[in-house]
Amino acid sequence: MSETQRIRHGSSIGQPITRRDGPLKVTGQARFAADNHPQGLLHAVLATSSIARGRVTFLDEAAARAHPGVVQVMLPGNRPALAQHPDDKSAPFSFNMDLLQDDRVRYAGQPIAVVIAETLEAATEGAALLAPRYAAEPVEVTLDATSSYVPEAIGVGGPAELRHGDAEAGLQGAAHRIEAVYETPQQFHNAMEPHAVVAAWDGDRLSLDMPTQGFALTQMRLAGLFGIPVENIVIRSPFIGGGFGSKLLAGPQVLGILAARLVGRPVKLVLTRAQMYGPVTHRAPTRQRLRLGAAPDGALLALHHHARTATSRFDDFIEPAANASHTLYAAPAIVTTTDAVRLDTGTPGFMRAPGEASGSLALECAIDEMAEACGMDPLAFRLRNYAEVEPISGKPFSSKALRECYAEGAARFGWEGRKLAPRQMRDADGLLLGWGMGTATFPALMFQAEARAVLRRDGSGLMEAGTHEMGQGAWTAFAQIAAESLGLDLERLELRAGRSDLPNAGIAGGSAHTATAGSAMQAAGEAAIARLTELAVTDPRSPLFGAGNIGVVPRGGRLVRWDDPSRGEDYAEILARAGLEQVEGRGSAAPDPAAAERYAMHSHGAVFAEVKVDPDLGQVRVTRLVGAFAAGRIINPRLVQSQYQGGMIWGLSFALQEGAVMDPRSGRVMNADLAGYHVPVNADIPSVEAILVEEEDRHVNALGVKGVGEIGITGTAGAIANAVWHATGARVRQFPITPEAIL
Ligand code: MOS
Repeated sequence: MSETQRIRHGSSIGQPITRRDGPLKVTGQARFAADNHPQGLLHAVLATSSIARGRVTFLDEAAARAHPGVVQVMLPGNRPALAQHPDDKSAPFSFNMDLLQDDRVRYAGQPIAVVIAETLEAATEGAALLAPRYAAEPVEVTLDATSSYVPEAIGVGGPAELRHGDAEAGLQGAAHRIEAVYETPQQFHNAMEPHAVVAAWDGDRLSLDMPTQGFALTQMRLAGLFGIPVENIVIRSPFIGGGFGSKLLAGPQVLGILAARLVGRPVKLVLTRAQMYGPVTHRAPTRQRLRLGAAPDGALLALHHHARTATSRFDDFIEPAANASHTLYAAPAIVTTTDAVRLDTGTPGFMRAPGEASGSLALECAIDEMAEACGMDPLAFRLRNYAEVEPISGKPFSSKALRECYAEGAARFGWEGRKLAPRQMRDADGLLLGWGMGTATFPALMFQAEARAVLRRDGSGLMEAGTHEMGQGAWTAFAQIAAESLGLDLERLELRAGRSDLPNAGIAGGSAHTATAGSAMQAAGEAAIARLTELAVTDPRSPLFGAGNIGVVPRGGRLVRWDDPSRGEDYAEILARAGLEQVEGRGSAAPDPAAAERYAMHSHGAVFAEVKVDPDLGQVRVTRLVGAFAAGRIINPRLVQSQYQGGMIWGLSFALQEGAVMDPRSGRVMNADLAGYHVPVNADIPSVEAILVEEEDRHVNALGVKGVGEIGITGTAGAIANAVWHATGARVRQFPITPEAIL
């Protein structure tokens, strides 16, 4: 049976169907923003600063202008006026931007001019001819910066300090104590598709081909900056080549839009790979101190998680790393604190599993060290301190199948019988073998979304919502939800997505896109079905007449009596008799404050890692990863597995490879390309297994869906670091782990 046949006879939700956009992607037909070439297109190239702090004193504008093909050079002096200052924060989630407002340089890689030309080559050469001179000032780009401060808020507005119980007393009374400091570096998103825009103005109307994880957010920000109504801005973003949080809002693309304004022609701006280490946010570095105390039986008495992080000199995004300690382990005293330093770097921002990625790394390593101090198996120690309710709030979890994740993951991995002491196992070649584990967690969030559903007289259905396909499978999962909600076979369902002039489907972020936009689609589909039901049950000519609006269910393009599915009729018949071309339903979704008040809502998982370490060279290879995750209802197990695997691979990258190397003198990223900034390639990837642990959640949303996009990166890096210790006896606390740290 083909996949299509299989799902025709049942529910489309839960089926492991392949990506609907797969053929377009592998045949090169999927159109990404930079694939657009409108008539009269010009090319813009950013000139960026090579110093990290100071002023631009000279640019050879004449040389750039004299180059054949160069049409304009945009500088602070001729940049079109904006209706708002680039630092205006009135639109939600705004961050301060560098839009050529003056001659100041605030970080290396900051845009300082834009060259616009008939060809990409001419614009690139023009930008090189600017040969800037600077008045440079001393910089600070590391966490050793001289002065720190306690921020007002961290993450999206949480408190910088949270105190539950008396951690100092708990530590003092503890039989076992550990204190350790873990460091994580700046990381950059490195999406396959760099930030890009094709911008065209028509009077005060703006048309954009631009990858975005949030249509409405981006529209609001641009409307403010340009002083035009939101509805004047149309953004097309059918496909996104990875975003990871960096494409929630327009950043440097605004310079492309300004360039189009300046020259009065459509302009394309695509960042180079090197420029992806500049004005597009990054994961902030952290230095995290964890202090844990436990009773003789291994019960945690106190947990203090302090995170130092960094932000820019001109904005305030603070990575909420210490938040990772709020939910996972039961302890009578849990304290989290944060401080920050201001660096001469770009502003950090949201990057896949912000907070939890680096925070859970430190926490899971510290838990492993504490288990060792207590002489306990790391899994037994975690079970000893299992949080039956959310520790600080005392709220019950809306669902939490973490115990099952531990059990299923451990069984598949073969954890049982693992020796407590390190350096106990070798493979046939004499390599040191080690096993480690970590717990994964990420909040199950809900945002706001709308959707519109249509049932047509030809028996087909349409679902409209401005959702975001960024590689995760949104086209597919949403079509499954839409088809199910409309009681249609998947092949009869048309999904319209990826444009701003559709119902606002919220953001693809916070691992909440499927939960949020999917819930809106579900509601829209139900509304359309309710309208159709009304037509049928009130029509004496219908076999459903008198069945009542709850006596009827949709099934395979028919409405049937639930007590006798043989009695029913096709949607097409109902519409035809009513003389209607279609019926429509609208739906929305939003966070439920009452549910959030009563329940703690998180996804959970357990990751097990095996590493082999060369005892002479210190080289680490991950040979096996097994992750077991519970995230509520699973729309498409194939897509979800791929999200988990991708997340775990990023965890491997976090543990062993990734990190920007900052030059403390120039303030520049020394490895701003994919040759120097290591991310895993196929040869680095061992067997990565993701187990989908069953979990039902009746509280998170109507669909019962929690997030799966970010959790895979959490837990994994810690599991690998702990496996490295188990293999070698070395507690490496500076990431990524390098051979010299092991030897
Ligand atoms: Mo994610 S960091 O919410 O795209």
